[in-house]
Amino acid sequence: MILVTGGAGFIGGNFVLNWLSDANAEGIINLDKLTYAGNLATLASLKHDSRHQFICGDIGDGDLVLSLLKKHRPRAIINFAAESHVDRSIHGPSEFIQTNIVGTFNLLDCAREYWSSLQEEQKEQFRFHHVSTDEVYGSLSSSDPAFKETNPYEPNSPYSASKAASDHLVRAWFHTYGLPVVTTNCSNNYGPYHFPEKLIPLVILNAINGKSLPIYGDGQQIRDWLYVGDHCSAIREVLARGRLGETYNIGGWNEKANIDVVKTICNILDELKPRADKKSYADQITFVKDRPGHDRRYAIDASKIENELGWRPAETFETGIRKTVEWYLNNSEWVEGVTTGSYRDWLDKQYRN
Ligand code: NAD
Ligand code: DAU
Repeated sequence: MILVTGGAGFIGGNFVLNWLSDANAEGIINLDKLTYAGNLATLASLKHDSRHQFICGDIGDGDLVLSLLKKHRPRAIINFAAESHVDRSIHGPSEFIQTNIVGTFNLLDCAREYWSSLQEEQKEQFRFHHVSTDEVYGSLSSSDPAFKETNPYEPNSPYSASKAASDHLVRAWFHTYGLPVVTTNCSNNYGPYHFPEKLIPLVILNAINGKSLPIYGDGQQIRDWLYVGDHCSAIREVLARGRLGETYNIGGWNEKANIDVVKTICNILDELKPRADKKSYADQITFVKDRPGHDRRYAIDASKIENELGWRPAETFETGIRKTVEWYLNNSEWVEGVTTGSYRDWLDKQYRN
């Protein structure tokens, strides 16, 4: 057994599906609070798979977490659970502090109690894998080298500050208590089952629904895009062979300006689902007020994971973004399930002006 938290979200859900696609895989206990970002429809194909047990609950609930650990005796915990959207953290940081910091603390402390009770061999095999972000390193200028694992932490948003705090707690539980941890800091993911508050799925859906495509500021901010399937394979490598107490940066070697990402999506849609008036979806691009404290550039130097573990992403941005657009065009049922009233309320709050 492994315990996955946040496994009904975008990356956690992809990871659960990816893991269980192997017929010989260990089972998964999936603990997820089912916030607005959690969606059981992502896991619908596992309905009759007894290797997957879903538990609706909070990583901050100590009694629940400890009882799950004692009952299922997992050999690893992979912590995906988080509040993950920067814009929401600007409107309301409180949940970010609660889940990302207090929740991770609780998970670590329960893991420590459980791990301490294990026999020596199981103790050695146990892993606590914390999934984190490149945003903890702050913002780069256009000439700065890409983030290495040794870069100082300089988080700029309530979201990234809360993730930075959680990374520090994970590090402390390794150094102080010897809990066998690994941390991965990943760049922007994209792919199937991505909640459409984030740039790529938002743009795909707004485009085909005839809405404007909102670009913050001048659209020249740069992100390093990684296909979610590649993130899953990287996590598997680090979980299996990563050195204890180490952090590994994961990235796609795919730096793109936001405006270019949006134009690429428009070009693919022009080809796959042309507008009735034959004009380009790019006509729907609208420049809107910038995000407060908007980080200018993220870029990951993923050479450590490549040199130590031989991992490199399989997808280029061109192959991954085409698959992603096709997935959204072919999965309208999933999309309808997540674009509910509360989703529309969020769009209204964020983009009203
Ligand atoms: P997401 O918002 O899509 O999913 C988060 C999941 O966590 C949801 O299913 C939600 O219900 C669950 N959750 C939230 N609070 C919880 C709590 N207190 N207890 C239990 N479950 C809870 O996020 P994501 O994009 O899948 O990101 C997963 C992880 O990867 C996060 O830790 C995020 O910081 C990190 N990350 C994300 C990206 C990205 O581009 N999306 C990149 C790097 C790192
Ligand atoms: O770098 C990793 C991070 O990537 C993760 O830790 C976060 O959980 C994840 O949400 C993501 O953060 P970003 O803020 O980079 O992702 P988002 O999709 O929100 O925005 C990507 C870029 O696009 C960013 O520069 C802001 C811009 N943007 C976003 C939205 C939603 C727009 O221009 N318009 C928009 O409407």
